[in-house]
Amino acid sequence: MSRATLIDLLYLFSATTFLLALKGLGSPKRARVGNFTAAFGMLVAVVATFFKQTDGHNLRHIPLMILGMAIGFIIAVPAARFVKMTAMPQLVAIFNGVGGGAAALVSLTEFIHIKSTHPATYVTLEVLLGVLIGTFSFSGSAIAYIKLQELITGRPITYPGQQIINALFGVASLVLIITILVNGSEGLLWILLVLAFILGAAFVLPIGGADVPVLISLLNSFTGLAVAASGFTLGSNLLIVAGTLVGASGIFLTRLMSKAMGRSLSNVLFSAFGSVVTASGGEGGADARPVRSGTPEDIGVLLGIASSVVIIPGYGLAVAQGQHVLRELGELLEAKGIEVSYAIHPVAGRMPGHMNVLLAEANVPYEQLKEMDEANSELTTADVALVVGANDTVNPAASDDKTSPIYGMPIIHADLAENVVFLKRSMRPGFAGIENELLYNPKTTLVFGDAKDTLTKMVAAVKAN
Ligand code: TAP
Repeated sequence: MSRATLIDLLYLFSATTFLLALKGLGSPKRARVGNFTAAFGMLVAVVATFFKQTDGHNLRHIPLMILGMAIGFIIAVPAARFVKMTAMPQLVAIFNGVGGGAAALVSLTEFIHIKSTHPATYVTLEVLLGVLIGTFSFSGSAIAYIKLQELITGRPITYPGQQIINALFGVASLVLIITILVNGSEGLLWILLVLAFILGAAFVLPIGGADVPVLISLLNSFTGLAVAASGFTLGSNLLIVAGTLVGASGIFLTRLMSKAMGRSLSNVLFSAFGSVVTASGGEGGADARPVRSGTPEDIGVLLGIASSVVIIPGYGLAVAQGQHVLRELGELLEAKGIEVSYAIHPVAGRMPGHMNVLLAEANVPYEQLKEMDEANSELTTADVALVVGANDTVNPAASDDKTSPIYGMPIIHADLAENVVFLKRSMRPGFAGIENELLYNPKTTLVFGDAKDTLTKMVAAVKAN
């Protein structure tokens, strides 16, 4: 077997591992194995590439490549290992941006390389699309990172005529691409690069901080397409397969997230959601409506006499880092013969699978995690719905109030349970910035305070009962 055939077979093996990995990532139980499978496939592909020959020549600049990889390794491994769970979206934004930037650089050098050979139009088009999409993804991801890291406001940044200006940038980029295809100008390529950079940043500015995870998923999909374009340029089937998989799965994830929020993708991208806060916020005030509040000890007593409890975690649990104490509480209740389950809303938290990852980290058994529909049917017979740092994902306005910005979003119906308990710090709203009527419902008790502190006191109270 020739060396080229062997390398192609190894690439085929890698592409297969990527597919198997995607399958594994579809369930929390197999996600870890899925991740390792893809990482192994990627390692095989990278090693195989070092032995690739082009026109009978071995790869050149190997020490330089190893140096680049070593630098990447030194930066990325600690960054990924020590990142806080709540900062994960930022990390994904950086990694995605770097991927897009790399794809753009490959296309850029390839343009300069092939220019004198008068390539076919479709080859130049692939290269130009690689530059446009990769650079767009790079600058868009950079702004997404800056927003999520709160280096600038997380609220949408808007100005008059913004969408028209953005559309003009988009049209100008397309005109440039057509012109370059006709005259092969390298000077115009640099202008395209600058335009794509501005366009990526301008596209992301009006998107609210908490919609950014959806945007990152979309940008991730774009990066995949840019990588696939590089694959065509470099004649690499593996890059085409890997890029297309990322492109397609990114689009699926984007659609799933939009659907789980009950909003269209165009609403997420263009409505500047989150620029207006409609809830009163604060904890009380002269015209504050009455709510029933309780102590962790009161809730300890209530839980002690319950026979089934559905725990509904949300973003606040991640902020408080209360997942371990929550698991301890769940185990205590189970030991007392109380049925315990965890209701997982697909967009609870701030990134896809946020609650799954958080609870898995605390070793909550997978069997206790219930998807929305199953959880809703359990809630009809539950004695207590314990809402820990969730808000929008249990807001009945999503199904009752046609004027609400979140109307149409599927929710976890905590209100179906006999008693509802909210652990939160104040009357402030959740991400959507809207009032939650469930807080004022006569069957609701609010326990104010940081979720981890409250849970710790509840654990002590349950033990004491
Ligand atoms: P949210 O509606 O954002 O509510 C979080 C709640 O946690 C707030 O009410 C907050 O109230 C409370 N909280 C914050 N820190 C706390 C702490 N240390 N201790 C106790 N409570 C704390 O959360 P959710 O129900 O998880 O909904 C997620 C939202 O994000 C949805 O609107 C969703 O559409 C949006 N979103 C999600 C995603 C993904 S992929 N997950 C992507 C884009 C958008 P206090 O401030 O009063 O404590």
